[in-house]
Amino acid sequence: MAVFSSVTLVIAFLIFTPSMVAFAGINLYQDVDITWGDGRGKIVNNGQLLTLSLDRASGSGFQSKNEFLYANIDTQIKLVPGNSAGTVTAYYLRSEGLSWDELDFEFLGNLSGDPYIVHTNVYTQGKGSREQQFYLWFDPTADFHTYSIHWSPEHVVFYVDGKPLRKFKNLEGVGVPYPKNQPMRLYSSLWNADDWATRGGLVKTDWSQAPFTASFMNFSANGCVWSNGVSSCNSNSSHNAWLSQQFDSTSQKRLNWVRKKYMIYNYCTDTKRFPQGLPLECTIRTNS
Ligand SMILES: *[C@@H]1O[C@H](CO)[C@@H](O)[C@H](O)[C@H]1NC(C)=O
Ligand SMILES: *[C@@H]1O[C@H](CO)[C@@H](O)[C@H](O)[C@H]1NC(C)=O
Ligand SMILES: *[C@@H]1O[C@H](CO)[C@@H](O)[C@H](O)[C@H]1NC(C)=O
Repeated sequence: MAVFSSVTLVIAFLIFTPSMVAFAGINLYQDVDITWGDGRGKIVNNGQLLTLSLDRASGSGFQSKNEFLYANIDTQIKLVPGNSAGTVTAYYLRSEGLSWDELDFEFLGNLSGDPYIVHTNVYTQGKGSREQQFYLWFDPTADFHTYSIHWSPEHVVFYVDGKPLRKFKNLEGVGVPYPKNQPMRLYSSLWNADDWATRGGLVKTDWSQAPFTASFMNFSANGCVWSNGVSSCNSNSSHNAWLSQQFDSTSQKRLNWVRKKYMIYNYCTDTKRFPQGLPLECTIRTNS
């Protein structure tokens, strides 16, 4: 009997394991390409995990196969642990050309035990200078957490574990350019930025700790895929409930909480930096 059941188990294992792996779903081989780093970026575990590494010679990076014109991108990321000072893990959407649009998350490393900074920026038509920075309410190197960029016709929202950190509202009506014509691709990279990243460049990368590694899983792009000038969203609107997702009062309360407790820099309050006056979007209360 015992022999029979273990044989049965082995057979069941052989039959079911491949399909279970497939069901575990999001396969990074299908969604992204490692684009640089000469072997320092790797997709492992049957496409379930991606690692980027950085050493003195090079960093590494990947990009989504698809381009999007509006998207909701979620990825679980575990940042470089230990002494990550000087390193930057970037995770952003960007279009091509000289007047590009770009929505940035950048994670600035630190000495062991000192807090990472989450740096965000929004470029429209080639113009950025819209930095906001935050600390996190957890250690982003201990576990995977979900980092999301929601880009719809109404607003761009940056989320961490479903909590909004930052909202950039569509204020085209009053003359603030909004990303809406240029398809963007998702990029991610791990690189050395010890000339500015940690305490403004005071703390340098400790290469004796290399290689530095950041890990990614469950990349999910729920978006309007842009292909040959056509958006996949035009053909089937029932598919795209997220596109018209409102930023309700609960979300606004959460955003206010994060800003109050964790925001450490806001370009919209940096009057020294903008002696001619704050950028237009900062003067509109719902967006600053
Ligand atoms: C990634 O997704 C799989 C399948 O949905 C899930 O079992 C796993 O817990 C997720 N990973 C993380 C780090 O949450
Ligand atoms: C690193 O830690 C120092 C000291 O706590 C802090 O001032 C700084 O904001 C932290 N983050 C970065 C990226 O410099
Ligand atoms: C549109 O999307 C819905 C929801 O996913 C699906 O059930 C339906 O078959 C799709 N319709 C067309 C015409 O593709």
